Parts: sequence; structure tokens; C-alpha cells
Amino acid sequence: MTNRTGPASARERLIVALDTPDLAHAKAMVARLGDAVCFYKVGMQLAYGGGLDYVRTLRDEGKQVFLDLKMLDIANTVGHGVASVMRLGATFVTIHAYPQAMRAAVAARGDDPLKILGVTVLTSLDESDLTEAGYNRKPEELVALRVRAALDCGIDGVVASPLEARDIREIAGDRLSIVTPGIRLKGSDAGDQKRITTPGDAIAAGADYLVVGRPIISADDPADAANNIVDEISQALNQRKGMSP
Ligand code: C5P
Repeated sequence: MTNRTGPASARERLIVALDTPDLAHAKAMVARLGDAVCFYKVGMQLAYGGGLDYVRTLRDEGKQVFLDLKMLDIANTVGHGVASVMRLGATFVTIHAYPQAMRAAVAARGDDPLKILGVTVLTSLDESDLTEAGYNRKPEELVALRVRAALDCGIDGVVASPLEARDIREIAGDRLSIVTPGIRLKGSDAGDQKRITTPGDAIAAGADYLVVGRPIISADDPADAANNIVDEISQALNQRKGMSP
């Protein structure tokens, strides 16, 4: 049995992070993007800004939603949190990839179609950030450890840097979906992201879904930026298919 979601078209693989200050800005961005985008990520900024019910609206408009809540709490609380999220109709929800939290999330999810993604190591963290936080491991070592734990706990996928996608695919095969933020177009501003790569390279490394925020929502023409990224995903998928045995 495989947990990997798919197959998805190039456009379904692009998840746009609706990191907007409030619901009005999010709605305006979704209207501007129109058919260029079919999968949105609702994260902390929007969810805490009144956007949780908007997940249902997006679903009613035919969009898929990745609810990026990055839950971490005692098992009982995570389980009840997942049960509440199930009612919203999101496709993905995130929890930090701690074994106790992952086991609680999987148990609470039961047969519901909601997919549980584990956040391995944030793409804004490098080795010095991990040392400062009390971890004596390189990001890629911690990612590998958490991917193995994710497999043991039976969750559906992981969120990780595109730079780690190849190693994750080697460890997990097709048993996990790989969702990668930290995507930047060549020559564009990295912002606070540190472990980044281009859309084409992320797909070539084995990513299933790309999460893109600022390169699209801060672009002069967001729909055009999204279409360009979908084209790049499509080309990289064709090359990937050509390379598989
Ligand atoms: O604007 P940008 O493309 O950097 O947005 C990336 C999005 O992905 C943000 O919403 C961020 O919270 C999210 N994310 C991330 N790294 C992770 C998990 C989620 O950047 N490991």
C-alpha cells in the first residue's frame, strides 16, 4: 500500500501560500489568480486572521486546500485538533514530525480522506539555527530521522526543503508524498528562506507538490507568475518521466 497522493497534473502540484494579512486580501488574490491555481495553502497568518471557515469556501469553489497549522501539543490535544480539522474538508494538514503527535494525528484521522503531513525541519533553518535551538545535528540528518519516524507512524507525507527531496525519496520510496516550500525562481529574492531551489530542480529531485508564496503573491502579475511555474513543473515532470526506467 502506498500513502503517496497522486498522480497530480502539473497545475495540481502547485500550492500557493495565501500568506495574506486578512480574508479580504486572500479573496482578492484568489480572484486574481482564477484558473491559474487550483490548490491553496492556508497558514497561520490567514487561519488566525479569520480564514479557517474560508477553507470550506475554497472547497466549494472547487479548490483544494492545504491547512498549514503545524500542530504540536500533547497527544490528546493533537487528536482533537485533527478531528476538528476533518470537518473543514482540507486535503492536507500539517503537524510537526514528532512521533507522539504523528501517532495521535493518524489515530484521530481514521478513515477520513484528510492527509496528514509531517513538517521535518523548517526551510528557514540552517545548521546554526538548529544548534541555537538545542539540536546537535545537521538539517539533513534531522530530516532523515524524522522521515523514518514519519514512516513508522504511518502518516501520508512530509514537508521538507527541496534540497532534501532526493534523500527522502531514497528513504521512503513511494510511501510518502513530499511537499516542498523554499521555492525560488532563478535570481529572485530568497527572503527568510535558506534551503531553497527552483521549481524545476525541486520536481527533478522527486518533490510531489511545491508550496510557493511570495514569488507568486508578491509578483506584479501573480497569475502570470503561477503559469510560468506550472510550465517549469510540467517540463521537469516530462524529463523525470523520461528518466524513469
Ligand atoms: O513566501 P514563501 O514562498 O517563502 O512561502 C513558503 C510558505 O511555506 C510559507 O507559508 C511557510 O510558512 C511555509 N513553509 C515553509 N517551510 C516549511 C513549512 C512550511 O516555508 N518547512
